[in-house]
Amino acid sequence: MIKFDFETYVDKNILEEYKELVSRKEEVIEKFNNSRMIGWSKHIGKNNIDKINNTANYIKNNFDCLVVVGVGGSYLGSYAFSQTFKKYFKPHPFEVIYVGTTLSSKFLNDLLVELENKNYCINVISKTGKTMETKMIYNFLKDDLKKRYGEDKVKDHVVITTSDDGNELDNEPCIERFDIPQNIAGRYSFLTAAHLLPLATNFDIYEIVDGYYEGSNLIDEAFNYAGIRYLLFKHNKVVENYCIHEEHMLPFTEWLKQLFAETEGKDGKGILPMSTLYTRDLHSLGQFIQQGNKILFETFIRFKNSEIINYKSLDINSINNMVLDSVINAHSKGDTNILEITMDELSVRELSTLIYFFMLSAAFSGYLFEVNPFNHPGVDVYKEEVKNILEEIITF
Ligand code: PA5
Repeated sequence: MIKFDFETYVDKNILEEYKELVSRKEEVIEKFNNSRMIGWSKHIGKNNIDKINNTANYIKNNFDCLVVVGVGGSYLGSYAFSQTFKKYFKPHPFEVIYVGTTLSSKFLNDLLVELENKNYCINVISKTGKTMETKMIYNFLKDDLKKRYGEDKVKDHVVITTSDDGNELDNEPCIERFDIPQNIAGRYSFLTAAHLLPLATNFDIYEIVDGYYEGSNLIDEAFNYAGIRYLLFKHNKVVENYCIHEEHMLPFTEWLKQLFAETEGKDGKGILPMSTLYTRDLHSLGQFIQQGNKILFETFIRFKNSEIINYKSLDINSINNMVLDSVINAHSKGDTNILEITMDELSVRELSTLIYFFMLSAAFSGYLFEVNPFNHPGVDVYKEEVKNILEEIITF
């Protein structure tokens, strides 16, 4: 169960304005329903989930690890999800290595050393099949496989996830191929094979799917969140700080940053997302938040129940929550508006619901800001530059 509280720690005048903004709800929902890019709000279909699950089992039975090659919306969701549930100090049972976010020679050198004695499978994920970082690292790893097994065996180590638009990846030989539907933008593709296949190696994806669709019951909450953020922005609160208290959720905040920044940051508009881990960052950014430039508001993501472990016969999770309440009080006294999203517990099902909630809010927010929530023309500018440079010097 997910609860969203925007009334306790938001200025009264903004709450008054919110009553008027609610009149735009119908218009926003109508624009959303009329968009052709909301494939992610429809059911993925049992056959697709079964195919993903069977392929994950094949990978687990035949390889030592899975190397996911992708960037942005093609990896952040599954990376965020899997990291959130990783045990501290222990890897997941099946090893999944994410690459594609850096062209660092040190990283790629260390990667080859790490993979040297491992029989690995590549899952290359790119909706367009044209992203140069993904293309380069995929070909780099294919060269490694060629050296080890010979050219004709490379295909036995590759699973492809792309859009069936005839792009280069679409024509590559492989073990299995998955589609990222045309009507789903990268950052909204959590419930496609782009994220579910890497996750299926360590998670019950049927549970993820069930939890995800529970988010469709949160239309009112999603609009409230989008709406109040929009009004805070109008009151010059142009930065949103996502506050978490579980270090393993830091990648989840990276997913959030991408979702909202790519959705809203257009035409000179949008809220700049950032994140803090509490209590760690109370000893650094906390100073700015308490007494610095009042440009930001905070969104706390917390959960009520967690592991039961006591200290001096006190439940540590209750202590943690009391500390967070004090932080909220302190920041609120320092004139920071605060929103709170509370889950019952950090479970696979609830996090999946939360993902849908945030995607819905982001889309609604795009319509409130009057920008297209599903494109990213700014990212395309840099992609084009990189493509021009790399294509001059490399033949893939
Ligand atoms: O959300 C998006 O659309 C982007 O972040 C893309 O996912 C990212 O640029 C990677 O694109 P592609 O999957 O085409 O390689």
